[in-house]
Amino acid sequence: MAGPVAHPPPDEAGWLAALPEAVLVVCDEVVAYANPAARVLFDPSSRTALLGERLTRLLPNDGTATAVRLDGSSFAATTLSAPTHLAGRPARLHVVRDMETEAALREGLDQTRIDLLALSGRFIHLGEQERRHIARELHDEIGQCLSAIRVQFAKLQRRTDSPESLALIDSAAGMTERTLARVRNLSLQLHPPQLDTLGLAAALRWHVDQQRDLHDLDIRLQVGRLAEPLPPDLGIAVYRIVQESLSNALHHAAAAQVTVRLGMQDGALELEVSDDGRGFDAGDLCGRIYSLPTLGLLSMTQRASLHGGELHVTSAPGQGTQIALRLPVPENGKHDEAASDIGR
Ligand SMILES: Nc1ncnc2c1ncn2[C@@H]1O[C@H](COP(=O)(O)OP(=O)(O)OP(=O)(O)O)[C@@H](O)[C@H]1O
Ligand SMILES: [Mg+2]
Repeated sequence: MAGPVAHPPPDEAGWLAALPEAVLVVCDEVVAYANPAARVLFDPSSRTALLGERLTRLLPNDGTATAVRLDGSSFAATTLSAPTHLAGRPARLHVVRDMETEAALREGLDQTRIDLLALSGRFIHLGEQERRHIARELHDEIGQCLSAIRVQFAKLQRRTDSPESLALIDSAAGMTERTLARVRNLSLQLHPPQLDTLGLAAALRWHVDQQRDLHDLDIRLQVGRLAEPLPPDLGIAVYRIVQESLSNALHHAAAAQVTVRLGMQDGALELEVSDDGRGFDAGDLCGRIYSLPTLGLLSMTQRASLHGGELHVTSAPGQGTQIALRLPVPENGKHDEAASDIGR
């Protein structure tokens, strides 16, 4: 060890001590100040304050890959150094970063991100399975029962003479008819069978026609040549993203026109949904997407990520909104593996 040891002025010691980075201030090649982070990094058992230690013992190859703890163990590090003054004497300030801990933390975060994505993939997959099941149940079971009741009412109508009874039967038959239409519509909304039988383009045409009629809005759909049949999970993902984008345009934008464009470019599906409505501040959406209290934009982003794609939202007040999606289409056969991994 060597002395004499100078201390940083109280002001500087205050903010140096608060830094999460390890900081050493070195005078004449000897540590004259070490902040708490440096003491934890170089002397985990906290026996010393590192003061008086020679810099070459802690950082043998000044500025390069290895640093050495007081117990002799070494770790990968990066350092930054700059000239400074300590109590009026020229000194050098070294900021030391433990790359092993950083790398482990980053690896842990990456793994957590992958796990969360896989988990949300499972939920989305299960949700779609459930929707499909309920849609089928509604259509096949409840729909057929209601159709049978309608037939019975028709028989009753033919056999009844009493005007009062006929009026009652008419009313009940009308209610059955409306319920049947509602159940069929609900079933189609939950999972349009066109997706499985006719493909994505047909399902989108049906959905857009329906929304146009329901909301009396100018919705334009342009679909180019797609590599249909697409992998089923991919088709559903694009369908749901269009569905949510249109729902947002209808509910939030007060738009006069919405355009949906879908096509293929360099082996990827490219989708754009744009409206000329009131827009919103989407500037910092990327950083906030996971803290939004709503689910629409988040689930669109999740669905895109799950299939290795990217979704961008461009919007500003008074400037309309544009949703742009690019989704790679896997070569035949490869997708089923990936999709079932996610869905399992
Ligand atoms: N096309 C749009 N035009 C104007 N504002 C929009 C548009 N799309 C989204 N927004 C704004 O972004 C917010 C978040 O959208 P998001 O779809 O996540 O939620 P939501 O539609 O409010 O609810 P939900 O969870 O039912 O989808 C909306 O509440 C709205 O303020
Ligand atoms: Mg929404």
